[in-house]
Amino acid sequence: MANEWDWLEQEKNRVIQELEKNKEVFYDTVPGPVSKDGMYEQNSNNYWTSSFWVGMLFLAKEAKRDSSFDDVIAVQMQSFQNRLERNIELDTHDIGFLYILSAIADYKVNGHEESKELAVRAADLLMQRYNEKAGIIQAWGNLNDIKESGRMIIDCLMNLPLLYFASSVTGDDRYRIAATRHAKQTQRYIIRDNATTYHTYFFDRETGDALRGETAQGYSNDSCWARGQAWGIYGFTLSYLYTGDASFLESAIQIADYFISQLPSDSVVYWDLIFNDGSPQERDSSAAAIAACGLLELARQLPLSYPKREVYEKSAVKMVKSLAENYTSKEQSQSNGLLLHGVYDKNSNKGVDECTIWGDYFYVESLVRLTTAWYKYW
Ligand code: GLY
Repeated sequence: MANEWDWLEQEKNRVIQELEKNKEVFYDTVPGPVSKDGMYEQNSNNYWTSSFWVGMLFLAKEAKRDSSFDDVIAVQMQSFQNRLERNIELDTHDIGFLYILSAIADYKVNGHEESKELAVRAADLLMQRYNEKAGIIQAWGNLNDIKESGRMIIDCLMNLPLLYFASSVTGDDRYRIAATRHAKQTQRYIIRDNATTYHTYFFDRETGDALRGETAQGYSNDSCWARGQAWGIYGFTLSYLYTGDASFLESAIQIADYFISQLPSDSVVYWDLIFNDGSPQERDSSAAAIAACGLLELARQLPLSYPKREVYEKSAVKMVKSLAENYTSKEQSQSNGLLLHGVYDKNSNKGVDECTIWGDYFYVESLVRLTTAWYKYW
């Protein structure tokens, strides 16, 4: 008998079939960060986005409950071992994204001890980016880069679970202390009084003094970049989960409320939240997918009696349904991506109205979250 959730199960199964096809192509390579006219090209494992592919393979394995993805996962894991050993393009805080969705996922799903050790070594590298004076993790560039060395960005909240994980498995508190301080600085300086967020914030690298907020990928310095706000919902919820500091939960709630207040009629946000229904600007489907996962995690952390818990769950389901109905590549033979209509960086005209590999990942995560008793890699 049909029920109201059939679409979800069908969509999850369809997406797994797509991943089964794609794993033949991207067996020992990874899809690029964004598609070109809907098609991902094969890349080597040398960019901040490389782990979203293996993350999707882990999700597919868990959803399918069989071993059909094991071979490709093993090949991909070898590549992440190699990347860390050779320090390939790791001058980035996204060591977090890279090793959470590879090493931590592999440890949690397959129990491989060598992946636990890999994650701790990756956390050690990430710790080198921690500026003790400012209490922040440098987002971009190498450590001698004068301009970048005092900059933190909201996205980094999603990289912190690598540090929380390292403390929990080693018993060494240094990682957790750095992560918590970074999250506190993000809370203090990146969130504005009206619960919108700056994308990035500068500190004086020598004195640690807070300087100014500035956008990189948003419309303007005082607008609210949609994906940044989505990273904030998910990221502050995770910092709450690992520290028990209720102020992080409060921040996630405020940021979520603002995000929900800016939803257009089909629940898929424009790339910056200053745009809404009627604007000729592009949507960012990836921001919707990330926000859906963040809202589902936020709802999971809230007590049943919390008045807005249901609002968060229902908003998340609405976003995922809208993505499933109108934003996937299913009617398009000319695409090997899952989610169309994402934006990487409008300001530099990169990946505008294309599939994004992180959008695909979080779309699959949202489907798996809504259909199985999945527990996070984050
Ligand atoms: N973390 C980089 C981005 O969201 O584009």
